[in-house]
Amino acid sequence: MINDRTHTDRAMMQRCLDLARRALGRTAPNPLVGSVIVQEGAIVGEGFHPAAGQPHAEVFALRAAGDRARNATLYVNLEPCNHYGRTPPCSEAIVAAGLQRVVVGMVDPDPRVAGGGIARLRQAGIAVTVGIEEAACRKLNEAFVHRILHHRPFGILKYAMTLDGKIATTTGHSAWVTGPTARAEVHQLRAACDAVIVGGNTVRRDNPLLTSRQEHTPLRVVMSRSLDLPTDAQLWDTAIAPTLVFTEAKAQSDVQQALMQQGVEVIESTPLTPAAVMKYLYDSGCLSVLWECGGTLAARAIADGAVQKVLAFIAPKIIGGSTASSPVGDLGLMAMTEALVLEQMEWRSIGSDLLIEGYLQNL
Ligand SMILES: NC(=O)c1ccc[n+]([C@@H]2O[C@H](COP(=O)([O-])OP(=O)(O)OC[C@H]3O[C@@H](n4cnc5c(N)ncnc54)[C@H](OP(=O)(O)O)[C@@H]3O)[C@@H](O)[C@H]2O)c1
Ligand SMILES: [Zn+2]
Repeated sequence: MINDRTHTDRAMMQRCLDLARRALGRTAPNPLVGSVIVQEGAIVGEGFHPAAGQPHAEVFALRAAGDRARNATLYVNLEPCNHYGRTPPCSEAIVAAGLQRVVVGMVDPDPRVAGGGIARLRQAGIAVTVGIEEAACRKLNEAFVHRILHHRPFGILKYAMTLDGKIATTTGHSAWVTGPTARAEVHQLRAACDAVIVGGNTVRRDNPLLTSRQEHTPLRVVMSRSLDLPTDAQLWDTAIAPTLVFTEAKAQSDVQQALMQQGVEVIESTPLTPAAVMKYLYDSGCLSVLWECGGTLAARAIADGAVQKVLAFIAPKIIGGSTASSPVGDLGLMAMTEALVLEQMEWRSIGSDLLIEGYLQNL
């Protein structure tokens, strides 16, 4: 009996995560949340949070279930909210609908509310189970959790390198290191992020488009201290997606004018650092930021604590070249004992390439 129930709980929580994923990349600064209501073994209502300002997942599920929510079980991957915002708290809506049991994937990480929603439900006599499929729930909302706890967006450094550790040839040519399947995966990744960042050199060398080729394309961000940038780069086509250029005061004003005329927003920040850009993106509500820059800027981003997760695509190719760029420039580390260590490593093959991902320890 217990095993049956655990099995159902896990399956329904996975369903919540599937529903939550439908809004991937579109909920910032809110989390990804899905909810399912089950009455006598049958799903009678489901929903997900589509975007900030829209109703929460539980509200959609309750609306769909109607009277069938009475004495039913509600599943949700994140603790129901307990505060009055634009809408009344979900905890009150659940109590009012007469649910018998609520299964929560993870507690809300916000120290100001953590546990409050669950306590309210228990106070009303509802049986609450917490921590079903918790690891998967935490992973889906890792950016939201990081944002809440550290007051910064979650930084992901993504790069593609050859088996001999080069991200471009000695001439700076880098199209393409990996195959089409890995590149399609990068489009998915962009669609799930709120901003993507490159440096001025990558704009000059690669003229990237940085779109997702999907419904949601993240804000495209360029960091250039010199503003020595071409005035006809693909990134300046703001009809596709917005572009933001960060530069320092006294950078070339003629380029600045040319960019602004094309609808590109230009922001001065002196000195220009990854930390300053991450602070700005946090204040703009971003959850996750993808660093797609070359090694120079990647090293600065890591040193500034702006990278939490690394995604390394490795191609079965050797290009050689003692001056060819590698994924991370100088970090000022002299002994192997000083190396930054990654944890929770995972790897899988994508087409003929390999994707290795992990988290930077203590960052
Ligand atoms: N395979 C891959 O995954 C991949 C990805 C991206 C790039 N690449 C390759 O990487 C090469 C470019 O490498 P890169 O390291 O020069 O990359 P980058 O992404 O252009 O970053 C360096 C640039 O960032 C700007 N910047 C702004 N603030 C900075 C700061 N505080 N510290 C340092 N730089 C700052 C500077 O632009 P300004 O000079 O305009 O001031 C600087 O030249 C290209 O050949 C490109 O093809 C490969
Ligand atoms: Zn809510």
